Amino acid sequence: MLSPSACSIKSSSLYLAPLPTVRRNFHKRLLCDFRRHWSTLARAPTIVDSSTAPRVMESGGSSDGAIDGAIAGFNFLERKPYSPPPWASHLSPIPSHVFSLGHLPSPIHRWNLPNLPKGTEVWLKRDDLSGMQLSGNKVRKLEFLLADAVAQGADCIITIGGIQSNHCRATAVAAKYLNLNCHVILRTSKALVDKDPGLTGNLLVERLVGAHVQLISKEEYAKLGSVTLTELLKEKLLKEGRKPYVIPVGGSNSLGTWGYIEAVREIEQQVHNAGARVKFDDIVVACGSGGTIAGLSLGSWLSAMKTKVHAFSVCDDPDYFYDFVQVLLDGLQAGVLSRDIVDIHNAKGLGYAMSTAEELKFVKEVATTTGVVLDPVYSGKAAYGMLRDMAENPTEWEGRRVLFVHTGGLLGLYDKVDQMASTVGNWQRMDVDESVPRKEGTGKMF
Ligand SMILES: Cc1ncc(COP(=O)(O)O)c(C=O)c1O
Repeated sequence: MLSPSACSIKSSSLYLAPLPTVRRNFHKRLLCDFRRHWSTLARAPTIVDSSTAPRVMESGGSSDGAIDGAIAGFNFLERKPYSPPPWASHLSPIPSHVFSLGHLPSPIHRWNLPNLPKGTEVWLKRDDLSGMQLSGNKVRKLEFLLADAVAQGADCIITIGGIQSNHCRATAVAAKYLNLNCHVILRTSKALVDKDPGLTGNLLVERLVGAHVQLISKEEYAKLGSVTLTELLKEKLLKEGRKPYVIPVGGSNSLGTWGYIEAVREIEQQVHNAGARVKFDDIVVACGSGGTIAGLSLGSWLSAMKTKVHAFSVCDDPDYFYDFVQVLLDGLQAGVLSRDIVDIHNAKGLGYAMSTAEELKFVKEVATTTGVVLDPVYSGKAAYGMLRDMAENPTEWEGRRVLFVHTGGLLGLYDKVDQMASTVGNWQRMDVDESVPRKEGTGKMF
């Protein structure tokens, strides 16, 4: 445990001498408060909560109705009964409850990308801003999946993904918010599977929140498949007396699909609030495990929105995703063919999580030009694919208003620092003449 002496904070280092008496006393008080705070912390018990019961806040707010949770922001982490949008009320099964985990609605704004076809507008749906450790599209699926886990009496969560899986990180954080332990099975190369996976990007957050990380090689993953691997872990935990709940790769099953059906309700509402000013012709989004496009395309087709959804696949081929999305749609008894409601394009390039120099340069240029930082694995590839398609087939995009869903994944960017180093430059030592006199100001750091 850190203590004030370990921090080596001494009164002499606090600039007491030159201050007027009032400020000097104020600083002394601050120092005392600081020491009192640390000595309390030094005595404080550790904050590990040994209870395995989920920590669930049910909705309902105060009995006198004085606080409307949704308005005051008090409904974060709350579990509430779920009612679907009217246009989705015939789907089945309908989830009974949903957690409030994301910072939603996420904003929509114009994205000033250069060199678009004539009259084309691109707007951004900022799902990357859906919360920090929970950021991105995953949180929308987890709102439903974790409500189900709690309803089933789970005391821990199992999920699986790539070594930098945003989904595994978001699941680990959300589970811990609800006092559920999380076990993540992460796929890595044969050469690295027996080594400490390090603390880069998503791994740092997963390990900080105490997720149980288990590594598996790509070869073992390919041989056994994600379902068998999660089932093996589930059986082991059941034998230990635990009650595990398995969330599939990317949170993509029919229940998770409700996350993006709800996102369509959100977009509809945002468009409605904007009046006649904005109506989207196309939605563009990355596709990694299929749940996001299943929800978006089904919601768009069922609602009055009827916006055409274009998915840019970053791993498997379009045919694989048409089939997989069909399974998700059938699981909701949607009665529609995936091929009729979504266009899936191939944007995988070198392969999942592998970037060409050109793709990384594109991510850098978009950031420099528009301030929007794309992740290289999902939205970076999808935006790259979209602009390439616009350049190759401009007439198909001319005059259209496109909503690009930024699905987050920024932590994955840290895994690419070595590859990106050559694209980012722009630093120099500040040139300061020694004769420049000091001016007193606020915010003195040392
Ligand atoms: C940041 C990010 N964007 C997009 C996706 C793709 O979404 P989905 O898995 O629902 O296809 C994922 C996950 O796979 C992701 O982590």
